[in-house]
Amino acid sequence: MKLTSLLALAFSFGPIRASPSTTTTTTVIPSTPAAELSDVTWRSSAAGFDAPKVSPVNATTWDWWYFDAIQSPAPEGERASVVVTLYTAVPTAFHLLGAFASAGYTSLTLVETEVSWPNGTTEMFLFNATEATITVLGDSASGVWDAPIGTASFNGTPDLSSYRVELNSPYVSGSITLRSNAPAHYPCGPPVAGQNLQIAPHIGWANAIPGADAEVQLIVHGEELSFTGLGYHDKNWGDQNFASSVGAWYWGHGRLGAYTVVWFDFLTPQMDNYISAYVSRDNKVIACQCQGIQVRPYGENSAYPPLLSTGLPTGYNITIALPPDDGRIFAFSATGEHFISGGPGRHIYTRWSGSLKGNVDGEELTGEAIFEQFKLFNQTTIMWHGY
Ligand SMILES: *[C@@H]1O[C@H](CO)[C@@H](O)[C@H](O)[C@H]1NC(C)=O
Ligand SMILES: *[C@@H]1O[C@H](CO)[C@@H](O)[C@H](O)[C@H]1NC(C)=O
Ligand SMILES: *[C@@H]1O[C@H](CO)[C@@H](O)[C@H](O)[C@H]1NC(C)=O
Ligand SMILES: *[C@@H]1O[C@H](CO)[C@@H](O)[C@H](O)[C@H]1NC(C)=O
Ligand SMILES: *[C@@H]1O[C@H](CO)[C@@H](O)[C@H](O)[C@H]1NC(C)=O
Repeated sequence: MKLTSLLALAFSFGPIRASPSTTTTTTVIPSTPAAELSDVTWRSSAAGFDAPKVSPVNATTWDWWYFDAIQSPAPEGERASVVVTLYTAVPTAFHLLGAFASAGYTSLTLVETEVSWPNGTTEMFLFNATEATITVLGDSASGVWDAPIGTASFNGTPDLSSYRVELNSPYVSGSITLRSNAPAHYPCGPPVAGQNLQIAPHIGWANAIPGADAEVQLIVHGEELSFTGLGYHDKNWGDQNFASSVGAWYWGHGRLGAYTVVWFDFLTPQMDNYISAYVSRDNKVIACQCQGIQVRPYGENSAYPPLLSTGLPTGYNITIALPPDDGRIFAFSATGEHFISGGPGRHIYTRWSGSLKGNVDGEELTGEAIFEQFKLFNQTTIMWHGY
């Protein structure tokens, strides 16, 4: 595994106003937190699946849109990927932004792009936008993060069937196109009105595109990075400081043969466990449930729960028990091949690209994956709670 990191330039300034029309809702989010209480959405409506869920964003609330794509098929040893996260958050809400803020990238409307070349080398780019303009139409959202020398944007179709992310800066430019092949879902059910949006207390999750055919065409400091493969898009949000809500989380998505899988296995700081599992095939949902899944580290450093001081595991063993009318058990492992964020050391956060391998209906299946862990526990907190 290889990891190199490069912090490239950020931008500032250049407001743009968008006016609401009769069919759309437009929100302009400034680059500094509101000195107000936020309204936070925890129950779904009939539309607005991917809409902002925190309004206005203050110094302790947060809302972000996440996109990724991973090369597939990939010649032996290759694995390009790209991850774009468009934040509306400041470090007092999501403390991992603290490192960027210390380097001057303090905007609440920040965009983080991680580009992993086929050889595994990862580079990171930040866009320090002056504001974000988000337009909601049907279930989709379209957002533009503006800066004087560039923009980062995403544009969804109202039925969530496709998204296009566009980056336009001197350092990274081009597009990521996702054509969905796996229906959207909330933590415990389908994209209909009245669903609970919390994957765990204080943490919202809406997975607009659990799996997609991805097409990536980027120019990264003059060099072309183009590939096709597996794509994904979701969003998270919270009504309080992230570290007050999270002890550890394991999340990931991938392809296992013809199946699309998404997993979430979460511990609160008080060690309460919350889970969610999603399986689809041929654009049909097979399981979408917040029960019947376990994700545990395997191989090296497989201590559970992980402490901040625990080294990184080889990967995760994942077991999903499908609903009784199906009855199948999906048992597979996610194995890390490249660090695409974080890595060895006392990192709260690590993201891998890698592979899935497992057995379904007696058949050995494989595929590609992107997955992550947060670990915030330290010995003191674990002992305090008796573990
Ligand atoms: C932000 O809004 C949340 C939710 O209304 C509230 O609990 C919190 O106190 C607010 N934070 C600040 C810094 O105003
Ligand atoms: C980033 O944006 C914030 C908020 O607009 C601004 O205060 C800061 O100076 C900007 N940083 C850089 C490096 O442009
Ligand atoms: C990997 O590929 C990138 C893009 O071509 C290049 O910039 C980088 O130096 C390569 N890394 C290694 C370790 O060869
Ligand atoms: C976890 O996965 C690895 C790799 O597939 C496998 O060797 C191991 O037996 C699994 N462990 C358990 C407890 O299932
Ligand atoms: C870890 O322990 C220190 C005290 O040793 C404490 O200040 C800190 O808040 C703890 N971190 C977490 C995430 O519990």
